[in-house]
Amino acid sequence: MKVLIHPTEGAAVDCVADLIAARLARQPDAVLGLATGGTMEAVYRRLIVLHREGGASFARARSFNLDEYVGLPPDHPCSYWHYMRDQLFAHVDMDPARAHLPHGDAPDAEAEAARYEAAIVAAGDIGLQLLGLGANGHIGFNEPTSSLASHTRLKTLTRSTREANARFFARFEDVPRLAITMGIGTILRADEVLLLALGPGKAEAVARMVEGPVSAVCPASALQMHRKATVVLDEAAASQLALRSYYEEVHPEGRDAAI
Ligand code: F6R
Repeated sequence: MKVLIHPTEGAAVDCVADLIAARLARQPDAVLGLATGGTMEAVYRRLIVLHREGGASFARARSFNLDEYVGLPPDHPCSYWHYMRDQLFAHVDMDPARAHLPHGDAPDAEAEAARYEAAIVAAGDIGLQLLGLGANGHIGFNEPTSSLASHTRLKTLTRSTREANARFFARFEDVPRLAITMGIGTILRADEVLLLALGPGKAEAVARMVEGPVSAVCPASALQMHRKATVVLDEAAASQLALRSYYEEVHPEGRDAAI
């Protein structure tokens, strides 16, 4: 695992956007795995700026989002379809026909999950997978005790995840209980994984992910088994890492030779 610790949130966000832009420059037809959530909003804002400056084109890319709430149609303001259009797709040269998310309003959610997994396999799997991190260690909506070999399927959200995401809904009761999410096995098949975590609220989960035992209790710890996983942090999110000074010595101020 490559751990890049940046002095500020802004520098960490720029680093992630630059790594995505670098992948698109190297491989314009990359298959991107995309994430939603509060952390990603700044990444997408930065990618839009890079796109406008001619530094990132999505014209030949394809994308698959990690997850979607069950029961929300694509035009629902709290759906991840809506989030992606609003935060990224409407502002860059992404072909809507090449951007994929699970359909939360499919009549048979389990069949939709299987269809989505098959579509990812048919696309040759994800090239670069972008991830956020739940305070409980989830990636995608793979909550603690998710199978580390899981594929896209239905998951029941924990109360803590529903509480964390209630800020996007009018009322806590409106936060769906179920989501369709790529599995941990799906994520581990990606060629490259790029996780961004910011702020003190993620520090404990970051330490468990990077330095804890590989365990379904902390789903993100499965990334220790990935051959090309980069974890981008600000100082607050890195604050509970026991080997922090080692990571800072290898990558001063989060600098990555690959950018
Ligand atoms: C979103 C997703 C989630 C979030 C995580 C962090 O598609 O899969 O795993 O990345 O819940 O969310 P924020 O960034 O809102 O703290």
